[in-house]
Amino acid sequence: MSNLLEILGSRYPIIQGPIGAMNDAKYIAAVCDAGAFGMISLGFSNPEETRRLVDGVKSLTDKPFGANVMIMNPANPEILKILAAAGVKFVSTSAGSPSKIYPLIHELGMKGFHVMLALSHAIRAAKEGVDGLIVSGLESGGLRSLGSESTTMILVPLVADHVKIPVVAAGGIADRRGYRAALALGAQGVQIGTRLIASEESPAPPAWKKAILDCGDGGTRLLSLKSMMMRVIPNQKMIDLATDPAFDLSREYNLMNAPKGWMGGDFDLFPAGAGQVAALISEIKPIREIIAEMVS
Ligand SMILES: Cc1cc2nc3c(=O)[nH]c(=O)nc-3n(C[C@H](O)[C@H](O)[C@H](O)COP(=O)(O)O)c2cc1C
Repeated sequence: MSNLLEILGSRYPIIQGPIGAMNDAKYIAAVCDAGAFGMISLGFSNPEETRRLVDGVKSLTDKPFGANVMIMNPANPEILKILAAAGVKFVSTSAGSPSKIYPLIHELGMKGFHVMLALSHAIRAAKEGVDGLIVSGLESGGLRSLGSESTTMILVPLVADHVKIPVVAAGGIADRRGYRAALALGAQGVQIGTRLIASEESPAPPAWKKAILDCGDGGTRLLSLKSMMMRVIPNQKMIDLATDPAFDLSREYNLMNAPKGWMGGDFDLFPAGAGQVAALISEIKPIREIIAEMVS
């Protein structure tokens, strides 16, 4: 089986969870300089934005970094060529069939890991030639499916038992205990999101970081957005609206408003995004400290 650290080229097998709203070159470079693997998030991005972000990160660090692309973005062929020309060797992919994009990823000399929320999709992606899988459990921050899902504790070993490519665990990891548990479950590395939002260098506003620090056990919920769900920390407005079980929250909250709500600290516009692991986070720390503690 190929080795994740060799693929990434970072010191530690810790990937920064891409978060579309937080594409900040200084933050990504700080992740790389701490020994983890920084990621640019290029969901529905375009070539100009890709160039700007790649140049920004490269001007701040000489460490390797990668990018996340959404398979359905029609600009991907050009975006991937820009990434490859800049020396980026790793992409993660989500939302779509890998067979559409992996031939080009490989032709450009890059490796790609596909983000998976379920075993059946993991097996299919492995057959379609992805180089590894980012296996995201139910407790994870970010978008979730409408289907019945397993937690990281279940999904990681399940997928690891069924594939012969590297597995990265995502969801529920914020410290050394979670990191070690993920490796014990059969993952070669981890992807972390919420812990890094609540870091000193993260571009998230104080209100978002505070919402994570204040979030206790059971403090997140899945907000239904019709065809998918987003894990959020409900604020008073969302709690009030949700008291009426007949009220359709997707009429009130639009995913397109999430970046503005989060980065503006306006959680009436869109509730703060975070994974269940927020309950374990009680301090804003420098990224270097977070990573050093995790691998200690
Ligand atoms: C607020 C929020 C937004 C996210 N947005 C994205 C995104 O735009 N693209 C993506 O691939 N993953 C996204 N994720 C998932 C993260 O990259 C990562 O896999 C996840 O946060 C790991 O779970 P954790 O938060 O428990 O560490 C998001 C996560 C959070 C918390």
